[in-house]
Amino acid sequence: MTTCSAPGKIYLFGEHAVVYGEPAIACAIELRTRVCAKKSNVIKISSNLGKTALDFDVHPYVSAAIKKMGSPGVSIEITSDIPVGSGLGSSAAVTIATLAAINIEFGLGYENEELARIGHEIEKEVQGAASPTDTFVSTFGGVVEIPSRKRLELLDCGIVIGNTNKGASPKKTAKLVQQVARLKEQYPDAINPIIKTIGSFAKQGEALVSEKNYTSLGKLMNVNHGLLDALGVCTVELSALVYAARNAGAYGAKLTGAGGGGCMVALSDSPQEVAKAIERAGGQAIITRFTQLGVLLE
Ligand code: PMV
Repeated sequence: MTTCSAPGKIYLFGEHAVVYGEPAIACAIELRTRVCAKKSNVIKISSNLGKTALDFDVHPYVSAAIKKMGSPGVSIEITSDIPVGSGLGSSAAVTIATLAAINIEFGLGYENEELARIGHEIEKEVQGAASPTDTFVSTFGGVVEIPSRKRLELLDCGIVIGNTNKGASPKKTAKLVQQVARLKEQYPDAINPIIKTIGSFAKQGEALVSEKNYTSLGKLMNVNHGLLDALGVCTVELSALVYAARNAGAYGAKLTGAGGGGCMVALSDSPQEVAKAIERAGGQAIITRFTQLGVLLE
């Protein structure tokens, strides 16, 4: 029996713009998905979504991972701290943890680099499109600039995630990426500069991360949120949580991931205060931290 875990992620800067080749900064967080793999005569998958055999509707990522690893007879049990389909990389975490657990349980000998690559292929197959960000960060952990994969300094302030508990769906990312693409086609003169400006935050953010300049990082996160709103991916619930976090003294707050519901993220040295404000504004708050730890054998 082998148990592996892999982390979820937040974007400090750059979601959506990264689709057009702009840089982004993504960070692994301490929320993890654990996958226990055990040799078996049949394929069994158990999670809070249900108990199934190979099932591409209920467990698409895990079923694809089992298939990619040669469909060995295996019993898989999943537990997770990461809300599903909410912009925190839950699908990458379950994919990478499953690949790693099967790799060790069956002695397949893949390196982590290879697991990240297979994980990205699985996300593309299941979702139709996916950047390699989530699977890379879930495999290797840390604060990472995309697409260069440069590892930046680990930040040590608190992270507060606010979940709107609205709009969660594994298909949401593809829908919102298409929505931004349509807006960009219709209004290139308005949208192209917004995308470039979002890219500039990741470039400035690199120095600010190494200085641990939380005040400036927070201010740029606030501007990044405004521009994501301009791209049409924000919701009234997300903005309510973002404003509640800022009013409670967060350095900065923005939506994270594709938007359209899901989660926002705030940086703060008083995470309890910010979490209370998020809850009062109708969100579900989760306090977490940055982590260097990627996929791990537990
Ligand atoms: O919601 P998530 O965690 O899947 O993030 C989506 C980020 C996008 O930039 C919108 C799309 C992508 O694949 O990079």
